[in-house]
Amino acid sequence: MKKFVRIEYVGQSYDTRNGPFVALRDINLDIYEGEFVSLIGHSGCGKSTLLNLIAGLDRPAQGVLLCAEKEITGPGPDRAVVFQNHSLLPWLTCLQNVYLAVERVFGVQESRAMLQNRSKAALDMVGLTHAMNKYPSEISGGMKQRVGIARALAMEPQVLLLDEPFGALDSLTRAQLQDELLRIVSATGTTAIMVTHDVDEAVLLSDRIVMLTNGPAATIGEILKVDLPRLRDRVALQTHPQYTACRAAVLGFLHERHGQHHGTDAPPKHDAASELELTSSTADAL
Ligand SMILES: Nc1ncnc2c1ncn2[C@@H]1O[C@H](COP(=O)(O)OP(=O)(O)OP(=O)(O)O)[C@@H](O)[C@H]1O
Ligand SMILES: [Mg+2]
Repeated sequence: MKKFVRIEYVGQSYDTRNGPFVALRDINLDIYEGEFVSLIGHSGCGKSTLLNLIAGLDRPAQGVLLCAEKEITGPGPDRAVVFQNHSLLPWLTCLQNVYLAVERVFGVQESRAMLQNRSKAALDMVGLTHAMNKYPSEISGGMKQRVGIARALAMEPQVLLLDEPFGALDSLTRAQLQDELLRIVSATGTTAIMVTHDVDEAVLLSDRIVMLTNGPAATIGEILKVDLPRLRDRVALQTHPQYTACRAAVLGFLHERHGQHHGTDAPPKHDAASELELTSSTADAL
């Protein structure tokens, strides 16, 4: 498989009133074509920071990020983002919201009719044909999130970036959209990178789960390969031994070794990931 997104020695820091704040350090990660990778970690550890760097919405303080062998220097249609809060334009219908993005990517070479067809096909893919002429205020939260996904998919990105796309939804809607995303990503072969807090979501959707240590100066603590066959069935998975093992591994990382209170009550571990957490910058913050 081809390495598609390459993150090499990436660090990010911000100037704050209290001096420089190191959010991320030493991030090294290769993502392969067609792979689904989740980024998981506690709130504030730097997941969105990393996703925004891949999206090109921000530039790294250290290191380099590449997509298809080209350095990422800004946002581009090859990397579409689905944000947690859908970010639809309220004065446009669902179809017009999708059309706007499609026009920006394909507007030069395609007729209006072709652009319309692309937009409608994307809405159809997420089951929203019936609502395409409605305004965001006239549809539910789950439907808005679906429009956001349709808009990103309609751009035919090489990489789909998702920042907690289902975080604000009730659990039934979330489950339904996860299944849809699983089906669409498998059908289109899109490379996907998703930020999540949800362990079950990460195991259900991912080929690999990248676990970040707590900030400041967060880095990759562990990477778990999820060796479960595709397409995955959420009900059947519940009793699959591999699913249970993956779930336990992520929960163990997040709650025993990297708990929100920096695991002060957990026994010290002497592996590489734990050592990473005990650098001077992290220790200073304890
Ligand atoms: N522009 C900024 N200036 C200063 N600090 C920032 C800035 N953006 C992010 N940070 C800090 O960087 C750290 C990582 O933030 P980030 O939003 O990436 O976390 P996150 O893992 O996405 O959290 P959550 O799960 O709550 O969304 C946080 O401590 C945050 O306060
Ligand atoms: Mg975030």
